[in-house]
Amino acid sequence: MKYIVKIVVVLIAGVAMVSCAEKGKPNYQYMPNMYEPVGYETYGNYEVFPGQMEAMLPAEGSIPRGWQPYEYDNTNEGRDLAKAELKNPLPVTQANLDNGKKMYDIYCALCHGGQGAGQGILVKNEKILGIPSYADPGRVINDGGIYHVQMYGLNSMGSYASQTNEEERWQITMHVMNLKAALEGTPALEIVPEPEIAEGHHEEESGAEDHGNDDHDTQEDH
Ligand code: HEC
Repeated sequence: MKYIVKIVVVLIAGVAMVSCAEKGKPNYQYMPNMYEPVGYETYGNYEVFPGQMEAMLPAEGSIPRGWQPYEYDNTNEGRDLAKAELKNPLPVTQANLDNGKKMYDIYCALCHGGQGAGQGILVKNEKILGIPSYADPGRVINDGGIYHVQMYGLNSMGSYASQTNEEERWQITMHVMNLKAALEGTPALEIVPEPEIAEGHHEEESGAEDHGNDDHDTQEDH
């Protein structure tokens, strides 16, 4: 009998506590310092910060790690200047060419075709028009131009700057130059032997390695 009374009392108390809770509002915090952060919240508003916002813009002129500034503008003049000045900094090694072909087949072949004649799968299926051949005599297709259009895109061609890193873009450029030579019947780029320097050094010297430097940095951080 005693037990039944106890059980009933507990039940009533339980129902009473649950029934009045207002669901639209946060419940009681029993130990607030377990919930309220001591540090600043990333997007919190605090008076101490300029603009009263914890998350601030990076200082002007700062660049992300592993990213290299690209100084040619996204304009016709910028493209002409890149065509006139920019040269592929990578040596023509088999490894660079192989990776260039691999990346090209992933990102470019669907429009430009595996041979670069402008006959990609999307063209054959009539999904896109106006893809030029790399041997188009009306265009100046060279190192700088190929790199530039990968950075910014050109009309219905999109930018590849976020999908590829600097080294990959130059490897793709190398492969495109070879495709162009094959289409025009001129000799392919002359392959030089792999430089015989340790990996890390080679990457620093070429200055065109994004991923490598990233790895390097993370290791130093630990
Ligand atoms: C969605 C289809 C598409 C893809 C994918 C594409 N392109 Fe293009 N590309 C075009 C079109 C369209 C043009 C012609 C743009 C124009 O002149 O209006 C073009 C033009 C070019 C040109 C000539 C630029 C010049 O100066 O005349 C080059 C070089 C080129 N693309 C390289 C690439 C490379 C390298 C990739 C892969 C990273 C790529 N394209 C991926 C559609 C594509």
